[in-house]
Amino acid sequence: MARKGKVTVVGAGFYGSTTALRLAEYDIFETVVLTDIVEGKPEGLALDMNQSRSIEGFETKVIGATTTPDGAGYEATANSDVVVITAGLPRKPGMSRMDLIGVNAGIVRGVAENIAKHSPKAVIIVVSNPLDEMTALTQIASNFPHNQVMGQAGMLDTARFTNFVAEKLGVLTSSVKTLTLGSHGDTMVPVPSRCTVDGKPLSDLLSQTEIDELVDRTRNGGAEVVALLKTGSAYYAPSAAAARMAKAVIEDSGEVMPVCAWVDGQYGISGVYLGVEAEIGKTGIRKVVESALTPSEVEALKVAAEAVRAKQADVKEL
Ligand code: NAI
Ligand code: 2OP
Repeated sequence: MARKGKVTVVGAGFYGSTTALRLAEYDIFETVVLTDIVEGKPEGLALDMNQSRSIEGFETKVIGATTTPDGAGYEATANSDVVVITAGLPRKPGMSRMDLIGVNAGIVRGVAENIAKHSPKAVIIVVSNPLDEMTALTQIASNFPHNQVMGQAGMLDTARFTNFVAEKLGVLTSSVKTLTLGSHGDTMVPVPSRCTVDGKPLSDLLSQTEIDELVDRTRNGGAEVVALLKTGSAYYAPSAAAARMAKAVIEDSGEVMPVCAWVDGQYGISGVYLGVEAEIGKTGIRKVVESALTPSEVEALKVAAEAVRAKQADVKEL
């Protein structure tokens, strides 16, 4: 099998390490680089992952590299095709994603500047929270074109919605299609009009009250896991989401996915990073795809856009 390309995962915590392993196990990349500021952690995890290759049957090489916030060690990431930024603190019970903005902005800004210096052509996938704001900050700090920077949230939130619908109806997840747009926060916009089970509208199978309960659970999906774990936040579903996006980039697949992308006129919204459907390829966002939404769903998307616009303006100063 021909393997190609280099993907870097910045931050070797729970999200970063599971993402790196998923990317390596795809066996499509030549190299996966995993970095962290904790000395020895990325090297140790890379060694461990490489030792699983003969059992799991993949040949992608994982390289671990300790970096410093001022840029030492970033040579190992040079000329990456894709970079996933997971560096930053996760939530604790009772915290909102927005409570992380101050500390994570400092971390993400430094990472974005170092990545831009060493991998000027990379497509960056941001996952650090608060997601919509950290995606906007990464674009500003890297000075990359908007299409080259995107955030991961919609893939995860949609997967959570799908799981809740499948469990409620006792059907296979593969028979369920759902969609969430908007922000990765209070103004998340689950889109029931785009939800089907074996092609049948969700509204034929569940009452409005039942759908509303699933929508609420989806909106609180991250907090539900945080409350159970007590330290740290979810990473299995989140890493699956980010890894799929990186795969779509390196394969130039053109898949349409719900991601945090720069919106420029779609749905009557402009000049903001927001969760929308977009076609993903080797240049990053090929184009934002406008879906058929109900008027109230479009309205909710506009509310989400205004909420994140205000916060995204603030991150310039952080
Ligand atoms: P974690 O605490 O397990 O790992 C974070 C890692 O980042 C640590 O190993 C830390 O040493 C490293 N780090 C800190 N500063 C760094 C720097 N300047 N350069 C390189 N590495 C640095 O946290 P976890 O669970 O991995 O979560 C990471 C981030 O992802 C959090 O902000 C979390 O809220 C976010 N997240 C986002 C989701 C999404 O859907 N967008 C879903 C789940 C988590
Ligand atoms: C999640 O949704 C905390 O953003 C993280 O799991």
